[in-house]
Amino acid sequence: MSILEASRKSVAFKHPFAALSFYLGNKNALHEAIILDAAKYIFGSNIDLRPWKNALSEITSHTLIPPNKNTFDVVVGNNLNTTFGKWIWCCVRVLQPDAMIETGVAHGSSSWIILNAMHKNGKGKLYSIDLPNHDTNNDYNFTLTQPETGWMVPDLLKSQWELHLGYAQELLPMLLNKLKKIDIFFHDSDHSYEHMKFEFETSSPFIRKGGLMLSDDVHKNKAFAEYVANTKFKALQFNKGGCAIAQ
Ligand SMILES: C[S@@+](CC[C@H](N)C(=O)[O-])C[C@H]1O[C@@H](n2cnc3c(N)ncnc32)[C@H](O)[C@@H]1O
Repeated sequence: MSILEASRKSVAFKHPFAALSFYLGNKNALHEAIILDAAKYIFGSNIDLRPWKNALSEITSHTLIPPNKNTFDVVVGNNLNTTFGKWIWCCVRVLQPDAMIETGVAHGSSSWIILNAMHKNGKGKLYSIDLPNHDTNNDYNFTLTQPETGWMVPDLLKSQWELHLGYAQELLPMLLNKLKKIDIFFHDSDHSYEHMKFEFETSSPFIRKGGLMLSDDVHKNKAFAEYVANTKFKALQFNKGGCAIAQ
């Protein structure tokens, strides 16, 4: 199965006014066009787009529970200003998952997005896996201030969260065997080819039909492309983020 490119360039011709407003500084219309096209590709052209549009409008509605603040600005991690961050938000709002696993928490930016969406859903649990403050990537600043993994997530959102600290190689199979089925898997931990391949192959049998495999940084190596080519997962790629649906 091939991977559809869901990017600015590929969508701009179809939505010239949204593209124009993007280049004038307003990203929202083009992001919306990209996400609605992506939703139709992944879930079928007959889907009702209203829940997707509602989810997108929530992002700018100022009704989200704010993240914890620290002395430094977090400029890394997934956020709601990118198509992939918005896609994650919309998928959690529209699919209403009971169980979702993410690997790679760092400061907790993606966890905060997912947990806010689950909070609005009024259901669901996020199971996150990360090493305890061990990121080797200096951009993540842990060496400077040593905050706790996932410190951005406020207490109000923690009742729907289980944070597991340790190697995904050990914890992911254990968690999957305990949960038996999940609705969404999101990879954002070690982006080496071997590790991404391991996480995709390990989690895939546990994703329910119609559930999603999400991955950040799929452009870094061939693991996601190869995985999709060898399975019945239908997939698309935003700039860096990938999404595949279990059929
Ligand atoms: C890119 S960051 C995660 C960013 C986060 N998802 C976000 O959007 O804000 C990658 C994280 O993966 C964790 N990590 C790297 N290798 C890992 C492994 N083998 N098992 C578990 N976590 C790992 C690192 O500690 C780091 O915090």
